[in-house]
Amino acid sequence: MRFDILTLHPELCRGPVSGSILGRAQEAGLIDVGIHDLRDHAEGRHRQADDAPYGGGSGMVMKVDVVDRGIQAVRQAGGHVVLMDPVAPTFRQADALRLAQVPQLVLVCGHYEGVDARVREHLVDEALSIGDYVLTGGELAALVVLDAVARQVPGVLGNPDSLGVESFTPRDDGQVLLEAPQYTRPREYRGWEVPDVLLSGHHALIDAWRHERAVALTRRWRPDLLPPEDPD
Ligand code: ADE
Repeated sequence: MRFDILTLHPELCRGPVSGSILGRAQEAGLIDVGIHDLRDHAEGRHRQADDAPYGGGSGMVMKVDVVDRGIQAVRQAGGHVVLMDPVAPTFRQADALRLAQVPQLVLVCGHYEGVDARVREHLVDEALSIGDYVLTGGELAALVVLDAVARQVPGVLGNPDSLGVESFTPRDDGQVLLEAPQYTRPREYRGWEVPDVLLSGHHALIDAWRHERAVALTRRWRPDLLPPEDPD
């Protein structure tokens, strides 16, 4: 799968995609990540990528023609273009699963003060926010989306079983639950003990315990994930 990030700050994007799992996935040829400077598509001696807003107001607005040329330069057949925008539907795990099906994901990073509205209206397939807060730019948001999508690409995670029972991903029965807590050695640390059942070697009991903990955690921290008809 191919990812292309369009940004005014390519240096912000390079680190997070070059190490660890994403770095290895690129070396293995499972994903390809291009990071492109939108300023390369700006015109004039000053390569101006933003301008003052029509109607007045503070701040600068990213220019539609610059973003248009940037998208045209990287978009391939079947490519899906997403604008990172705090005023957009919130990105969820279901979106990560959906976007992992496209051959190319183009992520457009907005300027913190704004992007000409014609970008969202005419140039992109959708816009996504990563949460109800405003970042200085879309770069961190694009990297969040890239990371969550890339790990769904077959082979990127060494052990595909880790995708099986995950928080926010529907289980076989369709239920969405937070993942049960995990423990590792030592068995006891400063008097804090690992639950006995995990040491029992009894897989059916362990599965039942994990399910019970997952339901309890979800009820406590994220009741919004449980179906509305759930009486508790
Ligand atoms: N750009 C600035 N804030 C953002 C957010 N929360 N999500 C996506 N893009 C953004």
